[in-house]
Amino acid sequence: MIDADCGKASAMSRRSALSRLAALSALGAGLFSAPRRAAARQADDRARVQDLIARMTIQEKAGQLNLLGDPFRFRPKNVNPLDGQGDPARVSQMIRDGQVGALFNGVGAAAGRTIQRIAVEETRLKIPLLFSADILHGLATVFPVPLAEAAAFDPELARRTARAAAVEGAASAIHQNYAPMVDVARDQRWGRVVEGGGEDVYLNELLATARVRGFQGDKGLADRDALMATPKHFAAYSAADGGMEYNSTDMSEAMLRGVFLPPFKAAIDAGALSLMSGFNDLNGVPTSGNHALLTELLRDEWDFQGFVVSDYTSEQELVAHGFAENGRDAARIALLAGVDMSMMSGLYLQHIPDLVATGEVPLERVDQAVRRVLMAKAALGLFDNPYRGTDLGRERAVVGAQAHYDLAREAGRKSIVLLKNQNGVLPLKREGQRIALIGPFGVDVDNVFGPWTIWGDESRRVSLEAGMRAALHDPSLLTVAQGSWIEVPIAGGIAAAVQAAQNADVVVLAIGEGAAMSGEAQSRTEIDIPEPQRDLVDAVAALGKPMVVILRNGRALELSGAVGAAPAILVSWFLGSEMGHSVADVLFGAHSPSGRLPISFPHRSGQQPFSYDHKNTGRPANPALASEEYKARYRETTNTALYPFGHGLTYGEIGYGAPQLSSPTLAWDGEIEVSVAVTNAGLMPVVETVQLYIHDRVASLTQPRQRLRAFQKVDLAPGQTRTVSFTLDRSRLEFVGADGRPTVQPGTFDLWLAPSAQWGDPVSFVLAR
Ligand code: NOJ
Repeated sequence: MIDADCGKASAMSRRSALSRLAALSALGAGLFSAPRRAAARQADDRARVQDLIARMTIQEKAGQLNLLGDPFRFRPKNVNPLDGQGDPARVSQMIRDGQVGALFNGVGAAAGRTIQRIAVEETRLKIPLLFSADILHGLATVFPVPLAEAAAFDPELARRTARAAAVEGAASAIHQNYAPMVDVARDQRWGRVVEGGGEDVYLNELLATARVRGFQGDKGLADRDALMATPKHFAAYSAADGGMEYNSTDMSEAMLRGVFLPPFKAAIDAGALSLMSGFNDLNGVPTSGNHALLTELLRDEWDFQGFVVSDYTSEQELVAHGFAENGRDAARIALLAGVDMSMMSGLYLQHIPDLVATGEVPLERVDQAVRRVLMAKAALGLFDNPYRGTDLGRERAVVGAQAHYDLAREAGRKSIVLLKNQNGVLPLKREGQRIALIGPFGVDVDNVFGPWTIWGDESRRVSLEAGMRAALHDPSLLTVAQGSWIEVPIAGGIAAAVQAAQNADVVVLAIGEGAAMSGEAQSRTEIDIPEPQRDLVDAVAALGKPMVVILRNGRALELSGAVGAAPAILVSWFLGSEMGHSVADVLFGAHSPSGRLPISFPHRSGQQPFSYDHKNTGRPANPALASEEYKARYRETTNTALYPFGHGLTYGEIGYGAPQLSSPTLAWDGEIEVSVAVTNAGLMPVVETVQLYIHDRVASLTQPRQRLRAFQKVDLAPGQTRTVSFTLDRSRLEFVGADGRPTVQPGTFDLWLAPSAQWGDPVSFVLAR
């Protein structure tokens, strides 16, 4: 059982305090030797860094804050506007001249050593370079996209895949990872929903913590397997108006602090030592020039000790935002606001010396930024071991290790969500059933990784077809017909697909979005399945055969027409290297599906932005009614989800009893226990995710109609009933007040223990002061 119930936090922290005491008496003063060693090391690092700063020229300081794209190492895919345009000879000379502090998005041990040697042997101060990269969900071995993995509702799984990604990255001469993306995403038109943990704050917090711990490991950043984590994009980038990429954001303090900031705080509390600022304008102040955010909040309030890197040219973009006069002004504003390192624009290198000479930027601020960057390099052990990650033998041994592929397959199948399964169409039989696999994603391998992988090993991608054939006792029972390209029809494609379907007992439709349809700069106006594929499904559905839809997607989709009417629908996202195997594991019932939606699937595209934790309004609609006047709803649909957050079926029936409270009252400093009996009435072992939602009926700020505050995953054998309990104290009931501070107020609360956000009746209790 995985226990993600923070309601137990207070009890647990008391327990861990007791066990700390026990350990103390057992070990005596020896207990403190590790922290003491760490403190002594930090003091040494500080002295070393201080000494360097004292010897650096202002040009060298500006150079340390200058981050450029790696022009030396091969990048199979472009992920930024100027990718592939760097000049190796020019950048080598810049490194020699102390004009570059870090390079990003190049990987590889051998070349890493060659490049590092320039910095360590041919520069005046011999300061090692920092190598950074976007390794969101795996390097050579590609794990499910972060959104898919969020569907596993399993932070420990996220930690494990992040760990494996870090092991591969660190062995390929990378030190810093531009991940995790912790932007809470509530508008499915926005393309980057795919990179994060979905729409819920609490799940995002847990995943942020887990991923930071996974990337950084637990042996310190100098460990050979550690990557420094960089939560991004600080902050509220995902709240882009209209879901349009790079658009401005405008919101209340309570919304910012209650929804968009908590995952960043969680990532920092977990030890992230760097952070990326965003592209967006927040309440009129672009985040990469936002002093209130980058200094007052991040430093003064949260005491963040690491360094802030801008997103790709985001400080230069202060000019286009209309917040800076020109590049020089942009550099000044960003630096004074709190951006320590400039990504790609070169503006810091170009302007810092002059800005300091004229007194527009105090030298102390430059020194502070340089100190933060050099302290991070020291924490990574780069001064003692600048060639970390450049051992070719190690790179060969761990990059693409079989254990990582096994983990990718496990993570993949745990990420799949079963939306519906009428008439027990699923699982499919491994024999005696003719299957037609139809749609653009049947044989496809180009769209298994998703939009945000650069170095995934393309020779080891498993298509659905390959995965299904491997699972079938008689692979010849599978026929394949593409039917349509992703966004363009194939001449005669539909006819061939209908023919294949006619000769089959069951049809599997592999449809949805291509990898290039989500990710950065891929906002959509309609979140639907492209028309040629819908036409294909219409034609095949007309045959009336049993039909299973397997969706490939980087966001929630509108499932209308024949797609929505299909008797069985699996959400399979972009599952990475092992996609075909993971899907086959679930499709043929080797494993019951256990994923849950981390984002709501709406009835209609036009409901965006949408999240299950919206407010009631003064005129809440009755979702059971087809139409209602003067209520908060649309003409075409009520404002609920078609498939809500948290939803996901398994093979067989799960029964929920009525939740039981230990008391109708929660005393101010007390605890309350709530439990529910959950039964697996099916014939297969399953994993059920029991979710705890609360609603604060009356508060000084209106509250969401439901908020997820805890969940537990439980294994249930066929026929088994288990009682699942949660312990709550008042900290679980907190919300962010109008003054931006957490508050909790006495009164009545509703509570659900449920399989999804849109399910069942609550019990209620009173928080009494
Ligand atoms: C821009 C993206 O917004 C960011 O997430 C990424 O880390 C950088 N490019 C570097 O590739």
